[in-house]
Amino acid sequence: MLIKEVAKRLNTTTRTIRFYEEKGLIQPTKRENDYRTFTDEEVMRLSTILALRELGLEIKAIKQLIDGDAYSMYDYLNIQRERMFERWLEMKDMILTIDRILEQHTDDGISVEDVVALSKHLKNLKTMRKSWSDRWNFDKQAAEYDKSLKLTGYRFNVHQDYEVALEKVISTIQLKAGDTCLDIGIGTGNLSSRLLPKGIKVIGVDQSEKMLEECKRKHPEIDIRKGHFLALPILDQQVNAIVSSYALHHINDEQKLLALEEMDRVLYSNGEICIADLMFHNETHRQEVICRYRKAGNIEAVEAIEDEFYADRSLLVNWFHSHHYEVTTYSFHPFLSMIYAKKGNDIL
Ligand SMILES: C[S@@+](CC[C@H](N)C(=O)[O-])C[C@H]1O[C@@H](n2cnc3c(N)ncnc32)[C@H](O)[C@@H]1O
Repeated sequence: MLIKEVAKRLNTTTRTIRFYEEKGLIQPTKRENDYRTFTDEEVMRLSTILALRELGLEIKAIKQLIDGDAYSMYDYLNIQRERMFERWLEMKDMILTIDRILEQHTDDGISVEDVVALSKHLKNLKTMRKSWSDRWNFDKQAAEYDKSLKLTGYRFNVHQDYEVALEKVISTIQLKAGDTCLDIGIGTGNLSSRLLPKGIKVIGVDQSEKMLEECKRKHPEIDIRKGHFLALPILDQQVNAIVSSYALHHINDEQKLLALEEMDRVLYSNGEICIADLMFHNETHRQEVICRYRKAGNIEAVEAIEDEFYADRSLLVNWFHSHHYEVTTYSFHPFLSMIYAKKGNDIL
């Protein structure tokens, strides 16, 4: 098939096709008089390239994908979806900021200071959504993660009561068959896979591709999505419940509040959130516990606590209260708690 015919068939231009040829994505056979001819296979390849461009993939990524390097199509689209959600949320933040300026002021009352103040707020949000990075290298931990749960540590067992906590979350949320539950920081799927036999659909979000691979290998039914607490790859109001275990303590207090806003965004109006994680009741409690470990010479415990962002539970509870959630809390041991929050005021 000649280039003009291909362009017509794929609803594109000869210029676009030449561009992909220059970038090495396609190599049509050239006849002696310099006319290009395309086999059916090449037309298929070109059609895939065009579709992937339409989905926003970069040329380099498309080349790796169609040359069969490293990632599968599923992986690439999953990564692409994560990026698009990040961009979408950025746009959403911008629109909301402009809405706020317009709502609060009349035509002639908008001062430069107002705009500067709100644009600062916008910049902070953007920085916060992008600032998180995985300094624990969960990709590297993924293959051995389940085994590591059985290790008790020398003088500090971070996974003390792990099984009890996961069971408590599952028995606390009130989902029924057909409902959708989002698990954030799903890891290898140990928490929400327990919902699958009840007919509940599970979406698992994690920032670690290797954790997600492991989760998919163990529980193919789970809809795994690459993403993170601060930009969930889910549209507004899509899930009946959100669960999370041992994940929230990887983001700091300020980020935790943004994460709660994200959870609230994707949750139905009568939805529920259940979080089991490493946290203290409040700041005083944190200092007391750390002080006790110090006095006992347990530096392993102090360093473990200070290396992560164990939550101040009272901050999370306050956030839920101020956003019209009914909240109950449960303590498993001094630094492991569960928070159950029901949106709206109709808690059982
Ligand atoms: C200790 S593992 C817990 C996994 C699982 N929830 C469990 O209870 O076994 C922490 C998980 O949270 C994920 N995680 C940490 N920070 C995250 C973030 N900001 N966004 C999404 N996932 C995150 C990690 O990649 C990892 O898979």
